[in-house]
This record gives sequence, C-alpha cells and structure tokens, in this order.
Amino acid sequence: MLILYLYLTLFLASNNAWIVHSFLLTKSKLPVPFSSTVANSDARRSGISKLLFSTAIVEQPSNPSSFENFDYLNKWYPVSFSFDIPLNKPTQVTLFDVDYVITRVKNNQGEDEMYALLDRCPHKSASLSEGRVIESQTEGCSIPKFQCAYHGWSFDGKNGTCVEIPQVLSSAGFSGDAHRSYGTLTNGVSVPILIQQDIVWLFPGGNLEKALLVPPPPRVPELDEPGFKMINPFVRDFPIDWTLLIENIMDPDHGVFAHQNAGFDLYTASKGNPYNLTESFCDNGWILRGHVSAVEKVLKYDKSRRKNPSTRKESANKEMLTGTITFNAPTNIRTARIRSDGSVFSQIQFWILPIGTGKSRLLTSLISDLKLSIPRWIGTLAILKFLDQDTHLLATQQKYVLENEAQNLSKKVTGDHLKSINPGARRNLFVYRSPTDVLQQRVSSFFDQTLHLVPNREKSIKRYLHASNEATPPRKFTLDRYEQHTKICPDSLKCVSNCKRIKTLSKVMISFVSLLNILKVVSIAKIPIKMNSLVTRTTIVLFALAHMIAQKVERQFVFNYPEKKRDRDLRKISDLWMNPN
Ligand code: FES
Ligand SMILES: [Fe+2]
Repeated sequence: MLILYLYLTLFLASNNAWIVHSFLLTKSKLPVPFSSTVANSDARRSGISKLLFSTAIVEQPSNPSSFENFDYLNKWYPVSFSFDIPLNKPTQVTLFDVDYVITRVKNNQGEDEMYALLDRCPHKSASLSEGRVIESQTEGCSIPKFQCAYHGWSFDGKNGTCVEIPQVLSSAGFSGDAHRSYGTLTNGVSVPILIQQDIVWLFPGGNLEKALLVPPPPRVPELDEPGFKMINPFVRDFPIDWTLLIENIMDPDHGVFAHQNAGFDLYTASKGNPYNLTESFCDNGWILRGHVSAVEKVLKYDKSRRKNPSTRKESANKEMLTGTITFNAPTNIRTARIRSDGSVFSQIQFWILPIGTGKSRLLTSLISDLKLSIPRWIGTLAILKFLDQDTHLLATQQKYVLENEAQNLSKKVTGDHLKSINPGARRNLFVYRSPTDVLQQRVSSFFDQTLHLVPNREKSIKRYLHASNEATPPRKFTLDRYEQHTKICPDSLKCVSNCKRIKTLSKVMISFVSLLNILKVVSIAKIPIKMNSLVTRTTIVLFALAHMIAQKVERQFVFNYPEKKRDRDLRKISDLWMNPN
C-alpha cells in the first residue's frame, strides 16, 4: 500500500502565499491559551523579516546536546489543509488540549483568509464553534464575526472584540453606534493564524506581535517551484499520542512486518550500512536528518529460504536510491528517496498536530511534479488501509508509554530533580537493538528531555490515564475511520454521499424495471418497446452491480479493519520473511 501511496503521488502548482489575519488580543478576562515569556528577543525579532520575506531556515550555532530551552509554545502548528475548512462556518481545532474556533472566508479579491479565536465565549464559556459565522463589512473589508449560539454575542474575527450583545442593543433601542464598546471583559481571545502552501497554521503562544518574533512555519521548497503540487493530500485524527505517531513515522523497521511491505527493507540500517544522522538547532528549534543507502537486509537473508522467491522482484537492475528522513521538531517530517545525482525521486511530507495527550492529527501528502490527477477518495482508501495496519499496535503501546511518562512527571512534582528523572521515561521503557534504532533513540531522547515543557501535558496525562482506566480501547474505536477521517474530509464525505445516491437510484431502478417486466410492454415517446426477460435481467444485474460497488466503497469509510483482516495480513509476512529458526 505504501508503494501504491508513493505512486499515487504526483505534483502540482502551489499556493505560495500565506496570509496572517488574526491579531492583537485585546485585554480580556479570558486568559491567553498559554502564558509564556519570549526569550532572546533579538533573534526572535529577526524572525519578523523571515516571516515576511524569506523561506529559508537560518541555522545558528547552538549546544547540540541539549533541548533544555525547546519552546513548544512559541511555534506554528499545522491544523488542517485549507481546502478542508468549510467556508463561512466555525470549525473547532484542538492543540495541546486547548480548543480554538477557526473559519475560512473569501476576501474581496476572492482569496482565502483565515480567522481564529479561542473557542470559549467570554459570557458563559460556551463553545463558539457551536455557533455561526456572520459576514460583515468593516471599512470596506470583509471581516467575519463569530456569533455564540447561546445568547447571541458576536465577536470580531480579526481581534476578538465583542461587537454585539443583542440584549443590550435591544434595551438601548438599536442606537446604531458602530463604535460602541461593551468593555474589555466581553472580548474573545484572538489567535494568530495563516495559510501557507495550502496548510493552515496556528500560533498558540500569544498575539500577532509574538507570532512575528518566531520563525515562520516550515515550507516545502518544491511547492515553490512551478509544476509541483500536493498529490493526494490526506488527513486523519488518531486516538494516539502525537509522540508515538512521530516515532512511528520515523521507524522504517516496522514496514516489512506491520505493513507487509518489502520496500521498507531497502531503507533500514544494518551493521555495514548505518543510518547517518546529522542534527541542527536553530531559532530554538531542532532538525534531525538521517540517510541510509538502499541495501537489502532482512529479506536478503531470507532469500534462499523463501518458498516462493518470485514473489519479490529483484532490485539488481534498478537504480539504487538513498532513503532520507528529516524531522523538523515537533511538527514536520519529510521522507524521500534520492537518486545518485542528488535529485529527488519521490517525497512524502507529514505534518503532525499535537491535539493533546493521547491524541494527534496527521496531514500527509506526496509532493511531485507529475502531471497526474487522481480523485482524492481513491488515494484515501489506500492510505486508510495502510494506517489501520499499525494504528491499533500504537494504541496497545500507549498505556505503557504514557503511564511511564506520568510517573516521571509526578516524581518531578514531589520534588526530585528533573534532570535526574526525566531522561529516563522512554529510555527506561524501550529496548533498542536494531541498527536503525539510532533514529528512534535520538527522537526518544528529544521527547524524554522536552515533554515536561509541553503545555498542559502534566494535567492532561493524568486525566487521560484516569479516563482510559489504562486499558487499550477496542479496535472499533482505535480504527474508527468515520470519526477519524471521513467526517473531517469533504471529499470523502462527498464520496459517501454519492455512494448513498447510487444505492438509492439502483434500488428505485430495479423496482421500476421489475414493474415494467410485469406490464410486459412499455411505451417511450409513443413507441412501444417489448420488455423481454433478457433486457429486464441485464438491467437488473447492472443496477445490482452498481449497488454492490457503491456499498463496498461506502464501507471503506467506516471501521473496516477487524481482527479477521489483520490475521489475513499477518499471513502475508511469511511471503516476505521467514524466521530462520
Ligand atoms: S455563552 Fe456565549 S453568548 Fe452567552
Ligand atoms: Fe506504519
């Protein structure tokens, strides 16, 4: 499926423009999402010009062994593809267990603009995402208002100012004063948001002034080149901690087994063919890069023992590519296959949203200049199946990993020195033996040293463990495609709705033709047509077939990976690899 996914990826024109629209937070009784101080103001100020004019990340010398000052709060986070956000409607997104309401509108030039507020009404704390978005013209500009569904208070999308309290307006007899103020306590909290290369990025660290002091979101350089595009952009939410998801994406060793995919074997490390790592610290961020030459390992060992050697194509005559992986912490991973001349053969981008403890959102897409256009839902089916194959495995890990982390955090609370306990959370839990694990070890070390800095982590990890009762949820929950994907992907929803239509139409047509068959003769445009049994049967079979296909496709968008399918996949492992014993 990965191979299919890779080849589904073809390349397009990008939207290079990004737009920041939500700005200064006015004084309000509501807190900003998190409190934080902005350190190193000179370096951050230099971020203003980068944000506005540059796509390059400038690396600065730093202490490569320490993540001590890693700043989760003052970064941009990818919350969605912009084209998946409904127009003029409130949409809730969550980051580090804090809810935000965002909306997409078209400006007077017909371009997309985004607005975001904290998803909490200052009146009585109801969610603004339950309300509606109202278009409004302010000084020639179209600025949307978020209206709370509870008592109708409305808030300016740009700055969160409360612009309407219907009950006060009524008692004042609709004075029509455009500059009326209800006081700062009535204001919502505005949050910086932007669109860059078709991805919506949110800044949780405070107002726009602060957002301008940090580096901009990472770009995909190819998307700035003509002809390149995202192919098959895909989104899915997981009941899986974002840290586990990141470790999973950066773990090539699991591909042969969890996905029964021989392609992964080429791009894992071995004793004589190590994974080469480099890393850099810049602007309080961290980038880890790894690359490995293509060499058969597990499968090569097994080749002579394989019952059916022809099941795997020999790669001797193929061009050997180098596998690379780049982690721009904590939100962006790029995996690529590089030709010997340095050009990119294929590339997949992953953007990870830390929704909160035990939760994550994955955005992913192939990046390519191939002139190929595949309906999004077709690629989606392949990726859904691919992700089902190991998501439940991650769910089985989760209770141990989070419990371990929680224990370390509680030791911190009781006064132990953080440095003496924190590096142990993953290091004490996982056992590394594979040569490829140098990647895993470095990422784990990053998490061990920084997770205590994640906003709200300590509180939410306890809440998570209490609520989950430390049990792995059933597969129907961990692999619920509808909740995790379909309902947040407009193209999949459209596909499901089309399937329903085809099913209904098929049923109607089968009934209709059956009725005509009873009547024997039908007249179309006054021409009598004899209904013989062949015509009837063929028509019924065709519509029955259409019904069956539509039913099959529709079922792909709900839970569809029970134990029976897992067992069938497990049997495929022996085609790839046989235990030498
Ligand atoms: S809670 Fe929002 S208007 Fe009352
Ligand atoms: Fe996987």
